[in-house]
Order: sequence, then C-alpha cells, then structure tokens
Amino acid sequence: MMGQEKLSFHERKQIEKLKQLYSKHDFWDTQPVLTTAKQRGQELKEGEIVHKQIKDISNEPLPLPAGFEWSSIDLADEKQATEVYELLRENYVEDSENTFRFDYPIDFIRWALLVPGYKVDWFVGVRVSKTQKLFAFISGIPIKTRVKDKTVKMAEINFLCVHKKLRTKRLAPVLIKEITRRVNLTNVWQALYTAGVVIPTPITTATYWHRSLNVKKLIDVGFNQLPSGMPMARYQKMQKVPKMSEVYLIGEVRPLVQKDIAQVYKLLVTYLEKYQLKLRFSEQEVSHMLLPRDGVIYSYVVENPEKKQITDFVSFYRLPSSVLKKVGHNHDHINVAYSYYNVNTDNSLLELMRFAIVKAKEVGFDVFNALDIQDNHEFLTELKFSQGDGYLHYYLYNWHLSQDLGSSDVGIVLV
Ligand SMILES: CC(C)(COP(=O)(O)OP(=O)(O)OC[C@H]1O[C@@H](n2cnc3c(N)ncnc32)[C@H](O)[C@@H]1OP(=O)(O)O)[C@@H](O)C(=O)NCCC(=O)NCCS
Repeated sequence: MMGQEKLSFHERKQIEKLKQLYSKHDFWDTQPVLTTAKQRGQELKEGEIVHKQIKDISNEPLPLPAGFEWSSIDLADEKQATEVYELLRENYVEDSENTFRFDYPIDFIRWALLVPGYKVDWFVGVRVSKTQKLFAFISGIPIKTRVKDKTVKMAEINFLCVHKKLRTKRLAPVLIKEITRRVNLTNVWQALYTAGVVIPTPITTATYWHRSLNVKKLIDVGFNQLPSGMPMARYQKMQKVPKMSEVYLIGEVRPLVQKDIAQVYKLLVTYLEKYQLKLRFSEQEVSHMLLPRDGVIYSYVVENPEKKQITDFVSFYRLPSSVLKKVGHNHDHINVAYSYYNVNTDNSLLELMRFAIVKAKEVGFDVFNALDIQDNHEFLTELKFSQGDGYLHYYLYNWHLSQDLGSSDVGIVLV
C-alpha cells in the first residue's frame, strides 16, 4: 500500500481553488462572468459576455431588508469618511489565521477613491435606518482598462465590506448588484476587481512576497516565524537591510514633485505597453496616484543630472495592518509598504527596488510587500523577499478572455 501522499501548501491551495470553481455559486452563477457550467456549455467569444443598454437598467435601487437603507457616501466629508474608515478598521480583510486586519488610514481611503472623475454615487453604503449607523460598503471608481488590444471603460471595484454582525445573510450580492446598476446607468458595462478568495473565475492569480525590514517585530507579532534551529541574531543578520551607501543608482534620486509629472506620465505609459492587462491613465490620474502624500504614497524619481531628464521612478504605498492577537508583545500595528508602480530605463529594476527597500526601512516600515506581477520576478529572490501564503486573484466582470493571463502579464496594481 502506498503511504499517505503529502501535498505542499501550494498544491493544497490549487485544489481548493478548483473545488471553489466547480461548486455551486448561487449568486455568481447568475452573473456575466465565466463559470465552469458556461465554459462547458459553449464556446464564448473573447470580449463582452452580455450586451445590455441603459434602457434595460432599472432606475430604482435594489430593495433592502426592512430597517436598512442605501446611502451614497461623500468621502470629502470628514464625518462620512470616518464612518467608512471605522467600518473597514473593524470589519475588513483579515489573514487566514485572523491575526491581522487591514487598517486603511482615512487619507489612504480618500487617495484611493477621490480620484479625478470620481462619482459619489459609486461609494455605496448601507445604513440602519433608525440609527443611521453604516453597516456595509462597496466602492467603484472610473477607469479605462486596456485588455490585450482593446480599451474598455470600466469600474474598479474595491472595499466590499459587510459588518461582522451581518455576515452570511446574502447582503454582499445585493451590494454588488446595486453598484453594478449604478455603474451601468453611466453606460459602463465592465468591471475590474481583485480578491483573496476564489469566485468565478480569476483571469490570473498573483502571489504576495514579503521582504522583512524589522525582523524581530515581525516574529514577535506572528507575521514571520524564526526558521527552526536558527538563533534570532543570525536570522537578523541574514535579513539585514543594506545601507543607502550600498545602493548604486545611476543619476540623482529625489522625491517626485509636480513638475516631473509630464515626464513620469510618458515613462509609465511607455513602460506599461508590454503588459496584456494595464490601465490607460490620464496625466491627471498619474499626478493623483503618484505625487507623494505623507503616510500614504511614497514616490521617488531618478534624474540624469546633465540632461535634467527623469530616467526611472519607484513608488510604494503604506497600508498598515492591525495586530489582532496581542500575546507576548504590545504592538498594535505593523507598518507595511506595498510596491506600486515602478519604471526603469537607465537603472535595473533590481537596483531601483533595492533603493525602495532601503528607503522604506529608513521611513519606518516593518515589511515591504510585492506581488509577482509585472517584471517583479527580476528582483524578488535577489532582494530576499520570501513567498507568502496569500494570493490575489484578478477578475473581470462581463468580459471573457479566451485564455488566462500569467501574473507577469499583469501591469495593474490595485490598492
Ligand atoms: C466579503 C464579504 C462582504 C462577503 O459577505 P458575507 O456576509 O460573508 O457573504 P454573503 O452571504 O453576503 O454573500 C455570499 C456571496 O458573496 C460572494 N463573495 C464573498 N466574498 C466575495 C468577494 N470578496 N468578492 C465577490 N463576491 C464575494 C460569495 O461567493 C457568495 O456568492 P456565491 O453564493 O455566488 O458564491 C464579507 O465576508 C466581508 O466583509 N469580509 C471582510 C472583508 C472582505 O473580505 N472583503 C472583500 C475584499 S475583496
């Protein structure tokens, strides 16, 4: 008899993913997304799955259970922004062991959502009528997505959150249908979104990689484990972050400022060309996304001093997580940097990212995260990132791709 086969973590995840895709999805099976049933039944053409017109869309919001009401959230208003912040702080995404929960700062939420051309109507809240307390939220922002050789107007959907007290009552599908209705009424029929969970059907799956910057704290809070048999001092030495004097960049590095935007915009657009999935930004959007905001987004350019030309840039955003299990330490947060958009021409991506890591450590981050999308494989191992157990699945709503993409075909970073 053969012994019990031992599957690796990633094999188990792969099997879980297949199970999810082949099981019944009461909601998603009714939506214009690729499901295994549809896949088997017919040959779908690449592109839009279901074609509708504004006249097919109801002007009335979806009904909510008695005692609840819809509320568009004006994030420019301090009080309403705080309500969203608090809902997310207490109820948003946790890791699989419930040790950490994202704690998106208010300024971050505003940066992510109050983008050029935003619509308050796409910041959808659900309140309890009597108390007006916010119990659920979902957001959309307008984007232009380039999928292979087509440019498609879409909504980028994010921050889907239902209060813990209201879970598993099928409120999430109502939120998704309501935001779809509001988006459709503006003649937009596609959406882009990411999730840690598997639903029908990812177009690609990316993996998170982590570079420790504050080794002891990450072990104390349970983010990392000390490799068995290894003394802390040795591990710290292995993970030591280089000094700034050990970063060799050609050109002068400084924070990005407004007058750089025209050049950075051109660099970014040209650089993204090679990816199968990317956003078509306007210059105004690039300015909004990349100009530094303290505690939110950090961007640096490398300038050729003779030509006064920007040759490269690197950026990362700050998304702290609350530490939920405080055993044997008293840290309430980990300060996490996430790689954002980076472009290299004169320098290697490896050297640029070495700069980013050293800078992130200098500014006080505990860990630097990056997905294995874009060209990130060029630096992950060399810069001592380790592969995490978190996945990020990318999805398109009402758009069929005849083949899945590889994670390195993806040029989009969603926050
Ligand atoms: C995600 C969340 C809103 C789902 O709400 P819920 O109360 O657990 O689930 P509901 O009973 O309302 O709805 C279940 C349906 O939503 C779907 N669903 C769950 N999570 C989803 C997600 N992240 N994106 C899209 N659909 C999702 C389920 O697949 C299910 O549909 P199905 O029957 O077709 O499979 C809720 O769990 C939550 O707020 N979690 C913490 C924050 C979070 O993870 N947000 C998503 C970030 S991508």
